[in-house]
Amino acid sequence: MAKTLLVTGGAGFIGANFVRFALANRPDLRIINFDVLTYSGNLENLAGLESDDRYRFVKGDILDPEALDPLMEEADGVIHMAAESHVDRSIMDSGPFITTNVQGTQVVLDAARRAKGGKGVGRFLYVSTDEVYGSLPLENPEVRFTETSQIKPSSPYAASKTAGDLLSLAYFHTFGMDVVVTRCSNNFGPYQFPEKVIPLFVTNLLQGKKVPLYGDGKNVRDWLHVDDHCEAILAAFDRGQAGRVYNIGGDNERSNLDLTHSILSIMGHGEEMIEFVQDRPGHDRRYAIDASRIEQELGWKPTRSAWPEALVETIAWYRDNQDWWKRVKSGEYLAYYEKQYGASA
Ligand SMILES: NC(=O)c1ccc[n+]([C@@H]2O[C@H](COP(=O)([O-])OP(=O)(O)OC[C@H]3O[C@@H](n4cnc5c(N)ncnc54)[C@H](O)[C@@H]3O)[C@@H](O)[C@H]2O)c1
Repeated sequence: MAKTLLVTGGAGFIGANFVRFALANRPDLRIINFDVLTYSGNLENLAGLESDDRYRFVKGDILDPEALDPLMEEADGVIHMAAESHVDRSIMDSGPFITTNVQGTQVVLDAARRAKGGKGVGRFLYVSTDEVYGSLPLENPEVRFTETSQIKPSSPYAASKTAGDLLSLAYFHTFGMDVVVTRCSNNFGPYQFPEKVIPLFVTNLLQGKKVPLYGDGKNVRDWLHVDDHCEAILAAFDRGQAGRVYNIGGDNERSNLDLTHSILSIMGHGEEMIEFVQDRPGHDRRYAIDASRIEQELGWKPTRSAWPEALVETIAWYRDNQDWWKRVKSGEYLAYYEKQYGASA
């Protein structure tokens, strides 16, 4: 029998890719996408799915228990990924991060727990981040984050995600809720809001603008194609052990400077298009994920993140979908929504 997943934040970058990936690869799944459509939630990311009878969009806020309750009755599990997601915005104003990522997660957890006369909704998967572990020094390239590494978030974004992550695990320990947590590295792919480094740099270059590189550019990130992340989330949802954390990574560490050089070279530009800008306050130096647990226990391995091929493919997507990001970058997408999707947006 088909299972119904309640996905929060399914109109954002990872959410929309997840909804598409799950519907395309798992005929046994139905999806309810619950999203309030903040600046980064975009129904255009889901265009074409409106007529799929295994998919339904519900506009709503994770802070609203009354909106969540009836959906929890229908669902067999929750993939909770609605969040404020951009570190720079959390430095400018951490308020929405605490409200959405901490309090919002508590509301979703409580709704999941009280569903079905207190039996609970079923499995609850919290989509967390490698940023909960904080920063590694550049000097010890052999050291990577495992699931037992110290939790030491540095940015308000990371601290708010850590709170949601640990709260979810607390609901497993305290209430016996069926919770699994995944902690993933940096994602790239289609439909990413162009405030994040790859779509920002690619769309700037397509507009003839320079790319703003923080500090000395030596900060290292582990890059994973979003579809690999989606597949790992499903593996953890299906086969993960309750109460357990699974790191997800691409084994694909790149400094921001290397990443920038790759983007410039793929797009036929030179170094003169780099503009070094003042570093982000508290900028984590290095993230590196040891994903051996999910590989060994659940048999998941990244297969779509090969470098630079996957980057070339992603750049081509932004080159071929200029209407999408031009609307998003200019803010015009809000007016476009209303015309395209009427009151639901
Ligand atoms: N992007 C990455 O590289 C990455 C890596 C690891 C983990 N994550 C996590 O994955 C999740 C998705 O990240 P993303 O990059 O797709 O973010 P995103 O900003 O593109 O999408 C977030 C989505 O959540 C929705 N949302 C926000 N507040 C809401 C609320 N109150 N109620 C309902 N919906 C709300 C937004 O409308 C949007 O659709 C986040 O939890 C993030 O922390 C992201």
